[in-house]
Amino acid sequence: MARIVLGITGGIAAYKACEVIRLLVGAGHEVIPVPTRGAERFVAAETFAALARSPVAHAGTAGLYPHLQRADLLVIAPLTAHTMARLAHGLADDILTETALAHDGPILAAPAMNTRMWNHPATQANVALLRERGVEIVGPASGELAEGEVGMGRMAEPAEIASRIEDLLRAAGSLDGLDVVVTAGGTREPIDSIRFVGNRSSGRMGLALAAEARRRGARVTLLAANVTAAVPPGVTVIETPTAADLEREALQRSGADVILMAAAVGDYRAAAPVDGKRAKDDDVWQIALTPTPDIARQLGMRRTAAQVLVAFGAEHGAAGLERKRGMLVGKNVDLVVYNDVGRDDIGFDVPDNEVTLVTADGDTLVPRAPKAAIAVAVLDEVERLLEGRR
Ligand SMILES: Cc1cc2nc3c(=O)[nH]c(=O)nc-3n(C[C@H](O)[C@H](O)[C@H](O)COP(=O)(O)O)c2cc1C
Repeated sequence: MARIVLGITGGIAAYKACEVIRLLVGAGHEVIPVPTRGAERFVAAETFAALARSPVAHAGTAGLYPHLQRADLLVIAPLTAHTMARLAHGLADDILTETALAHDGPILAAPAMNTRMWNHPATQANVALLRERGVEIVGPASGELAEGEVGMGRMAEPAEIASRIEDLLRAAGSLDGLDVVVTAGGTREPIDSIRFVGNRSSGRMGLALAAEARRRGARVTLLAANVTAAVPPGVTVIETPTAADLEREALQRSGADVILMAAAVGDYRAAAPVDGKRAKDDDVWQIALTPTPDIARQLGMRRTAAQVLVAFGAEHGAAGLERKRGMLVGKNVDLVVYNDVGRDDIGFDVPDNEVTLVTADGDTLVPRAPKAAIAVAVLDEVERLLEGRR
């Protein structure tokens, strides 16, 4: 059974944390409640302690620190807008935020607040940042709120939170001991010392995959091509700004158990980049572009039968999907994750994606969802493929 630290913050929904504790204790888990001072304005610490059959962690309970740091899972339910902001900024001004900073396992959070607080750009930016770092967010749901209004912001129901916790605990450890390499971002191919040919990939999809693989217990190496977003904790990062850097580093790691090629690697680079900066003049600057080596194909040639090799392909429409299906045999990859870049609501440089998972067994559509949820679907498929090898 798992050791779960349950952070409880200061909103009306704090009373629902009692039901979360009851469900988790009933399922046999050890629960250590960590209410904020705000939470204790709503529910007394004694109630949490009695239900959890464990002392709550307060500033004075230093003895609980080692237990907090060795938790299998950190859950925060309800999560206020205030504590969400503290987490997003890495503050450590109470036991809960200290614990969150020191915790390198999975985190599940259930935000609860009124609709205006939830819709505020600050809250939306914070929740997006937490998701990018691999925090799993459950809810909020739409419904009647404490103040009598109806809207988005209601905490997910305790039963749903408990069921997501079980999913997370099952997934945690499922890639234990495996080496996973993820490529992310978009390469920049220099045309002189300051200019480049690049693409719009933000690296968010690769970061979500790295966070999810780490959450499942893998040793994760991220080959990052100009990724500006935050890298999830516990992931080793190697900067690979150009296709040549990425090729070199990927081939050095071609023996990994799983390779997920989510980076948009430049297909062309300048045949003869200018030394130094080309000064501006009135002449046309003709740049000859030459194809870059095909990294997926090289990895496909070196791979072992036990490895799972995953390529990402962005193209336009159904014809693009057909072309990508050809990669299974043509490049010897096991899974192609196809996304249609003809649409501007998914894919490049936006938080959501919608993909088709293409394997020898057929196609599966993963409907539009945040990239963290797409990463879960991709890694579930990777695990299915690994299972088939055993
Ligand atoms: C009656 C009442 C209800 C509140 N409900 C919420 C809520 O549902 N969500 C929220 O984000 N903040 C809510 N707040 C505001 C938080 O309590 C406040 O931001 C506090 O600083 C949160 O601290 P904590 O996150 O450390 O617990 C509420 C405040 C009051 C007085």
